[in-house]
Amino acid sequence: MAKDFAAMEDSNRSSNPSIHDVSDPARRTVLRGGLGLAVTGLLAPLGAGTLAGCATAGGTAPPLLGFKGVPVSTADAVTVPEGYVTQVIAAWGEPVGVAGAMPAFRFDAGNTAAEQALQLGMHHDGLHYYPLDGSRRGLLVMNHEYTDDGLLHPDGMKTWGAEKVRKAQAAHGVSVIEIEWKDGRWQQVRPSRHARRITAATPCAFSGPAAGHALLRTAADPAGRIVLGTLNNCASGKTPWGTYLTCEENFAFYFKGPERPDAHQRRWGLRPGDPVGYRWHEFDERFDASKHPNEPNRFGWVVEIDPLDPTMTPVKRTALGRAAHEGATVATTKDGRAVVYMGEDARFEYIYKFVTRDRIRPGGFAANHELLDHGTLYVARFDADGSGRWLPLVHGQGPLTAAAGFADQGEVLVKTRQASDLLGATKMDRPEWIDVDRDGWVYCTLTNNSSRGGAGQPAVDAANPRANNTMGHIIRWKEDGDFDGTTFRWNHFVLAGDPANDRADAKGNVNGDAFACPDGLWVDARGVLWIQTDMSTSAMGKGDLARLGNNQMLAADPKSGEVRRFLVGPVGCEITGATATPDGRTMFINIQHPGETPSERSDPDQPRRISNWPDFRADGRPRSATVVIRKADGGVIGT
Ligand code: FEO
Ligand code: CA
Ligand code: CA
Ligand code: CA
Repeated sequence: MAKDFAAMEDSNRSSNPSIHDVSDPARRTVLRGGLGLAVTGLLAPLGAGTLAGCATAGGTAPPLLGFKGVPVSTADAVTVPEGYVTQVIAAWGEPVGVAGAMPAFRFDAGNTAAEQALQLGMHHDGLHYYPLDGSRRGLLVMNHEYTDDGLLHPDGMKTWGAEKVRKAQAAHGVSVIEIEWKDGRWQQVRPSRHARRITAATPCAFSGPAAGHALLRTAADPAGRIVLGTLNNCASGKTPWGTYLTCEENFAFYFKGPERPDAHQRRWGLRPGDPVGYRWHEFDERFDASKHPNEPNRFGWVVEIDPLDPTMTPVKRTALGRAAHEGATVATTKDGRAVVYMGEDARFEYIYKFVTRDRIRPGGFAANHELLDHGTLYVARFDADGSGRWLPLVHGQGPLTAAAGFADQGEVLVKTRQASDLLGATKMDRPEWIDVDRDGWVYCTLTNNSSRGGAGQPAVDAANPRANNTMGHIIRWKEDGDFDGTTFRWNHFVLAGDPANDRADAKGNVNGDAFACPDGLWVDARGVLWIQTDMSTSAMGKGDLARLGNNQMLAADPKSGEVRRFLVGPVGCEITGATATPDGRTMFINIQHPGETPSERSDPDQPRRISNWPDFRADGRPRSATVVIRKADGGVIGT
């Protein structure tokens, strides 16, 4: 029943603590002119061993890609270059560290729903490090995108009931954990006053133009202001004012659709009959859209969380629009306004950006708690001559009128897809993560789209140039003027694929190590573009997949285009989430769904165990987890 789940999703997360993470926007403006100064000025206060220290005594920076690449692999292991070491932390089921409530993980998956709500969730995705004491102690905030119920319960889905639904909901959402470098390794700090789980049952507030809108009102929430939970949290973003943006991606899969979906419901993927994979509606009626038609409208938002305040109510920011949101990456204009780049990972959906009306203020979340409620949302159009335009999603402008079915700005935001259709935005090949390099190029992974050019489907276009695009590509653009520019120039950074592949459509033009299905993307503080892959049999043929091995992470030089394989993950995983300590000497990534294959998900009662990572216990089960990457000599990652 979950058979085509991966085909519909295959997915993953975003953004970065790099040069974008200055907490004082005025300072960032000054620093933009000289990056060498910027790195020193930004990182020096954060503790010993800053990135400035990675220049040699003669002042020459080391090569951007200073490591020896690794070959493809099909091993059930994490492979990294010579001179690097890894460590696993924060696996699914480990207690997050709430004082007095730290249930140990049971390897038979026998933890209760209540225990799961105090433990790290399943299927780790977006990930960011928030320093508490520079590069020695901080918070890791991460998404838990979805559950594999075949693994989540001792007997999988052979039986089904309210407790299992509650446990699945408790394994979704976001974790905040505290970690420290102690005795030569990274360890969780437990208990921690910051430790927190946000789940698919945690009350979240709506803010912005659609808050309280008729389309968000339900029987349980007649005011349309409070919704229970966030789910399918995929990629994420870190704001310059210190908050975490978690993005709700494939929410439609959780809902049983009505018998006869209307045009709006169809446009958002609601179908008659049972949802693919999830059976929440059987014991939690709000996931039956035939009974609660507005409940799906309450998902698909970007949700803001202050990791420093475990009591704050997460806020769904409606001004940023509704989508199957992949990530939310924040850049800053020279005058200190925030620009949020967002991809919608679904076939033939769009790339968005939101420009705040107001400037970022010093003072963290308290000083910026309404910043993301006011501004302008745009959708991208890529023209064939290499130029592009940001089209405003503003009620009353162009075709977005009451006559066209948009009563007000709230309706434009709930129906962002329909509004983008009307504006003639460019239908992309599944936009996943977005990040910005040191020269101001904005990169977006387009993971794959095997429907491109198919019967009754959109044809190739300049920005999405391959029919049956099984390998994916990375597009990039540079705004005309500042990040708030309404026009841009674009090109392709790389068409992914394997140069040794006989099929012309699958070769690509990779300069260096072959890869396919780019998903995670992150520019580190030195300017390395890290690319994480999410290949699956649903996207690529078995032969193509076998040639490229397990999913992997590669490093690219934005200037030369060289791509070098840095890490290969265990069997059946995808690689996602990338973040680092300010000194660049510890990198964290997430291994999501080790052991997963589309065929495994198709039989949730009896999941085949094709991976045992990371515990390798006969009585265990594969677990998503965070991998810590260090150089054995303590040097900066990538040098
Ligand atoms: Fe959840 Fe598009 O990755
Ligand atoms: Ca993906
Ligand atoms: Ca995936
Ligand atoms: Ca993804």
